[in-house]
Amino acid sequence: MSAPWKHVWITGASSGLGENCARKLAEQGCHVSISARSEDKLNAIADGNSNISVYPCDVTDREKMNAVKDEMEAAHGPVDLVILCAGAWFQSSLTEMKPENFQKTLDVNIMGVVNGLDAVLPDMIARGEGHISWVSSVAGYGGLPNSASYGATKAALINMAEGSHGELARKGIALSVINPGFVRTPMTDKNDFPMPFLMEPEDAADKMIAGLKAKKFEIAFPWQLVWILKFLNILPYWLYLRIIQKIA
Ligand SMILES: NC(=O)c1ccc[n+]([C@@H]2O[C@H](COP(=O)([O-])OP(=O)(O)OC[C@H]3O[C@@H](n4cnc5c(N)ncnc54)[C@H](OP(=O)(O)O)[C@@H]3O)[C@@H](O)[C@H]2O)c1
Repeated sequence: MSAPWKHVWITGASSGLGENCARKLAEQGCHVSISARSEDKLNAIADGNSNISVYPCDVTDREKMNAVKDEMEAAHGPVDLVILCAGAWFQSSLTEMKPENFQKTLDVNIMGVVNGLDAVLPDMIARGEGHISWVSSVAGYGGLPNSASYGATKAALINMAEGSHGELARKGIALSVINPGFVRTPMTDKNDFPMPFLMEPEDAADKMIAGLKAKKFEIAFPWQLVWILKFLNILPYWLYLRIIQKIA
């Protein structure tokens, strides 16, 4: 199996979905530049794999994101696919408000994507080609209990993708928004509630890569949870709110 991209940049690649996509895309012949804050974990992933290079950075640091992007392009050529996967999750509700967690979630989940776009988009626009993707979540389809800050950021990412798809397409750039359900990763390992249709990260990475190869606008999985939540979100609010409370 081979992939159509020469150089892929993945943020949030030190574990979970990002790591699994990096390993699989490297196996499929891409050169993969991986970023996250944990340099030791990135080095362990790249160890012995000449198709993976390490570019540690914090996605909230726009200057550093631009600097590592220039560095990786100088070494491996233009980034033709970016997977903006870094994310932060805290259980959050308004009655037990922790504004600092809201701030972190906004900084990583939204500004981390914006900073990635700031680094890659101008060159892609100049070249008239490229593929942008970011990882949102099915939690962005509609409000869910205890997900006030996370859900709000993921909803914003879906909204931003919907509004930007046509504009980017006219510049020759493909855009995909990735909406996973529950996947077993360090992020969900700390959850103390049932996670229906929980997937393994290897299977989730396969779905992500297949969707990216097909240049799908939305890449969402597992289908069972996706369709349940999509259905709930077309219901009138009086019914949606009742069902969501019951589930909670
Ligand atoms: N697992 C799920 O069920 C699920 C479901 C829907 C959506 N998602 C989304 O999928 C994406 C990946 O999550 P995951 O499940 O694979 O969790 P994960 O294993 O915890 O991965 C999160 C990644 O983000 C990186 N990261 C966090 N803050 C960062 C920062 N400030 N700068 C740079 N990198 C940062 C982490 O690396 P460092 O700590 O080394 O920086 C790590 O590589 C996230 O956007 C998440 O919201 C996950």
